[in-house]
Amino acid sequence: MLQLRTCECVFVLSYCYLALLTVAQVTSPSEVNALLAVKNNLIDPMKHLSDWNKGDPCAFKWTGVFCSNSTGTDDYLHVEELQLMNMNLSGSLAPELGQLSHLKILDFTWNKLTGSIPREIGNLSSLKLLLLNGNKLSGSLPDELGYLSKLDRLQVDQNNISGPLPKSFANMSSIRHLHLNNNSISGQIPPELYKLSALFHLLLDNNNLSGYLPPELSKLSEMRIIQLDNNNFSGSGIPDTYSNLSRLAKLSLRNCSLHGSIPDLRSIRKLYYLDLSKNNLGGSIPSKLSDSMRTIDLSENHLSGPIPGSFSNLPFLQRLSLESNQLNGSVPAEIWQNMNSTKSARLTIDLRINSLSSISGALNLPDNVTLRLGGNPICKSANTANLTQFCGSEAGGDWTTERSMNSTTTCPVQACPIDNFFEYVPASPLPCFCASPLKVGYRLKSPSFSYFDPYAPQFELYVTRSLNLNPYQLAIDSYFWEEGPRLRMYLKLFPSS
Ligand SMILES: *[C@@H]1O[C@H](CO)[C@@H](O)[C@H](O)[C@H]1NC(C)=O
Ligand SMILES: *[C@@H]1O[C@H](CO)[C@@H](O)[C@H](O)[C@H]1NC(C)=O
Ligand SMILES: *[C@@H]1O[C@H](CO)[C@@H](O)[C@H](O)[C@H]1NC(C)=O
Ligand SMILES: *[C@@H]1O[C@H](CO)[C@@H](O)[C@H](O)[C@H]1NC(C)=O
Ligand SMILES: *[C@@H]1O[C@H](CO)[C@@H](O)[C@H](O)[C@H]1NC(C)=O
Ligand SMILES: *[C@@H]1O[C@H](CO)[C@@H](O)[C@H](O)[C@H]1NC(C)=O
Ligand SMILES: *[C@@H]1O[C@H](CO)[C@@H](O)[C@H](O)[C@H]1NC(C)=O
Ligand SMILES: *[C@@H]1O[C@H](CO)[C@@H](O)[C@H](O)[C@H]1NC(C)=O
Ligand SMILES: *[C@@H]1O[C@H](CO)[C@@H](O)[C@H](O)[C@H]1NC(C)=O
Ligand SMILES: *[C@@H]1O[C@H](CO)[C@@H](O)[C@H](O)[C@H]1NC(C)=O
Ligand SMILES: *[C@@H]1O[C@H](CO)[C@@H](O)[C@H](O)[C@H]1NC(C)=O
Ligand SMILES: *[C@@H]1O[C@H](CO)[C@@H](O)[C@H](O)[C@H]1NC(C)=O
Repeated sequence: MLQLRTCECVFVLSYCYLALLTVAQVTSPSEVNALLAVKNNLIDPMKHLSDWNKGDPCAFKWTGVFCSNSTGTDDYLHVEELQLMNMNLSGSLAPELGQLSHLKILDFTWNKLTGSIPREIGNLSSLKLLLLNGNKLSGSLPDELGYLSKLDRLQVDQNNISGPLPKSFANMSSIRHLHLNNNSISGQIPPELYKLSALFHLLLDNNNLSGYLPPELSKLSEMRIIQLDNNNFSGSGIPDTYSNLSRLAKLSLRNCSLHGSIPDLRSIRKLYYLDLSKNNLGGSIPSKLSDSMRTIDLSENHLSGPIPGSFSNLPFLQRLSLESNQLNGSVPAEIWQNMNSTKSARLTIDLRINSLSSISGALNLPDNVTLRLGGNPICKSANTANLTQFCGSEAGGDWTTERSMNSTTTCPVQACPIDNFFEYVPASPLPCFCASPLKVGYRLKSPSFSYFDPYAPQFELYVTRSLNLNPYQLAIDSYFWEEGPRLRMYLKLFPSS
């Protein structure tokens, strides 16, 4: 009996000893040093990183530092995420970042970082997200980033990056999102990028790219969005092979100095959005496009010939911009007659400054259809009386469409402490439920529609489902279009009632 007790006691003691060891889990020393070097290179006026000297980074959960939840084979904890978004940080990125060898997420979005992207980041072989957008980083993209074979998303948009797009990026075999827009990247798009078989989104608009559009990119069978607006592909046309991009939803090549004619894109069955405006494209408009088209912008080119009759079979069309070309013949009235008149449908047809001479069919426009014909011979003909309203020369596109919610509540004012924090939840099932919303800014970088209202319910469902909220917990407070076009919105998320 006594013997047994002793045994038990020994067992308990050794268990305590083990437990002590477990409590003493610490961050890998080289990663601690790397974090200290990272902080040393940053300027942190708001003191967001003031706890980056208190004890162990993983054990004491330093701001923005997220670690593995158990020790690795080396008995240390490892930093897996560095999330330092929107903290007013300036200074530069330390090369020691390359020592955070278990890092999966590196997020410095929306700060004021200067200097270049350290090539050592290419050592982070587990990295999945590299998010540096919205800073003032300069220098060129390091070739070494191409080693990041697990990288899913690279966002360096809205910086001041110059130099070429490295060929080595063709090695990023997992990459799905490549967002490099709004920099000063120059030179040729490497044809080798066709190897990126997982690529979904290629955003390179607002750079200084030149050379030609590589036909090889048509092998990217997963591609959904190609957005290359405002570059200078001098002397280059749109490769015919792009019609093989069967999953493409959006092709935007606005203001790219493109020559030649528009290829036949009818085989791209789910194409929603085609913007080839402000180029030097000639020839005629392709006779057929996908039935899914929401936006067609071919304005400011040298296109000639008639408007294809098939444009009348695009039930979801929201915007048809063909202004400032040399189109002739008659305008087929079926374009607006076959419109899908669901509740919030809207269609803008801009045909100004062409050589159109008549309208075939009846002019009775449905509600919510805007037609612009100014600057065509049709406006000079004898019986313009029934056309004058369409022949004015109002200013350009429809991008200013915006909305803001106005509270039209019938709830008693005094029941909710109306200040900057509390308000009545607009769609609450409990009448006059008063709550303080979380306000969220949100931006769609590359929407495929021209007019948001019909898609707002779908968007709301998407957001509430993804966040596991009830539909009434979300309100789109306001939205407006920004240059791009990009859709900026402000959302309110309410607690459940
Ligand atoms: C530890 O992390 C892994 C992967 O992130 C996760 O699957 C697991 O549930 C976590 N374990 C605990 C105890 O939190
Ligand atoms: C960033 O700086 C601005 C102005 O200095 C300040 O108003 C804002 O609150 C700061 N934001 C954060 C997250 O530190
Ligand atoms: C880290 O990156 C640098 C520069 O790219 C390289 O010289 C070095 O060998 C790498 N270190 C490790 C441990 O991979
Ligand atoms: C961007 O970098 C160039 C040099 O490459 C510099 O002349 C320019 O001032 C920078 N622009 C901004 C907004 O920092
Ligand atoms: C990475 O890219 C470079 C340049 O294109 C190439 O020479 C190299 O073979 C590639 N490495 C791998 C592992 O694919
Ligand atoms: C991108 O660059 C274009 C052209 O310089 C500019 O009009 C646009 O506002 C920029 N967009 C963003 C999001 O910075
Ligand atoms: C764009 O590239 C051309 C040469 O191709 C160069 O002359 C020009 O300065 C560059 N512009 C910018 C804004 O980097
Ligand atoms: C585009 O490039 C050509 C040839 O390099 C040059 O002549 C032209 O000025 C450039 N256009 C723009 C808008 O930068
Ligand atoms: C009109 O749109 C609705 C909703 O998207 C759809 O169910 C209907 O089939 C469409 N009608 C036609 C004629 O395409
Ligand atoms: C026109 O738009 C308004 C507001 O979105 C909508 O209420 C109306 O039903 C629409 N009319 C047609 C014919 O689509
Ligand atoms: C405009 O009115 C004239 C005569 O009133 C008519 O002949 C012509 O067909 C009308 N045009 C359209 C497009 O309805
Ligand atoms: C909200 O109010 C503003 C100004 O009073 C007005 O311009 C806007 O059209 C209103 N929005 C809605 C959706 O009623």
